[in-house]
Amino acid sequence: MKIDGTDDPNSWEKIYQTNDAGWDIGKPAPPFVSLLERPPSWLSQGKIAAFGAGLGHDAVYFAKNGFAVTAIDFAPSAVKGIKKYSDSNDKLTPFLGDILNLPDDFESSFDYVLEHTCFCAIPPENRPKYVESVKSILKPDGILFGLFYRFDPADDKGPPHATSEEEVKELFEKDFEILDWHTPNNSHGRRKTRERFIAFKVKK
Ligand SMILES: C[S@@+](CC[C@H](N)C(=O)[O-])C[C@H]1O[C@@H](n2cnc3c(N)ncnc32)[C@H](O)[C@@H]1O
Repeated sequence: MKIDGTDDPNSWEKIYQTNDAGWDIGKPAPPFVSLLERPPSWLSQGKIAAFGAGLGHDAVYFAKNGFAVTAIDFAPSAVKGIKKYSDSNDKLTPFLGDILNLPDDFESSFDYVLEHTCFCAIPPENRPKYVESVKSILKPDGILFGLFYRFDPADDKGPPHATSEEEVKELFEKDFEILDWHTPNNSHGRRKTRERFIAFKVKK
C-alpha cells in the first residue's frame, strides 16, 4: 500500500482500484461495536456524516442500528462500494465529495460527525479546515466522535500524516468541549494503543 499523503482524490482512488486499501479492516471498528452495545448518554439515533468513509463498514453499521448516515468520500470507487449497501438500506446515503468543501445545504444539519482514520489523511495545513467543516455541518449541540489515528510516541509518522494528541487538542479546544478521550481496549490489530476514541461537543 502506498499512501503518498496527498489530498488529491486520484491517489486515493488508485489505491481502491488496485485493491490496496491496507487500512480497510473489512468490518466495523470493534470500539464502535462496543459503543453501540452500551451507548453513552450523549449518543442517540440521529443524523451522522461519516467523514472519509472508505468502503463504509462503519457507516453501514450505524445505519443498521437506526442512524441516518451520509457516508462521504472523495474516491469514486469507495463511494461505489458503499452504494452496494445503500440499495437495501434507506438509512444510508453515499456521497461523493470533499469533506473540506461540502455543499451549503449540509450546514447545521447533522447531529454527529463520525471519524475513523480520516483526520490523519488530511495534510496538517488543511486540518483547521477539517475542524471548520465539522463545525459548520453540525447542529449547535452537535458532536464529533470517532477513532483518531495514530498516536505512537515511539514513531510519530502517519499514515499518511503524523498526528499528536496535543495537535488534536489545540485544533479543537476553541470551539469544542471534550466529552470522552480514551484508548480503546479492543482496537483492531496493530492499532491497539495507537488510536484514541474521542468525542467533542460544539461549545455553547
Ligand atoms: C485511511 S482511509 C480510511 C477509510 C475509512 N474511514 C476506514 O477506516 O476504513 C481515509 C479515507 O479518507 C478519504 N479522504 C481523504 N481526504 C478526503 C477528503 N478531503 N474528502 C473526502 N474524503 C477524503 C480517502 O479517500 C479514504 O477513503
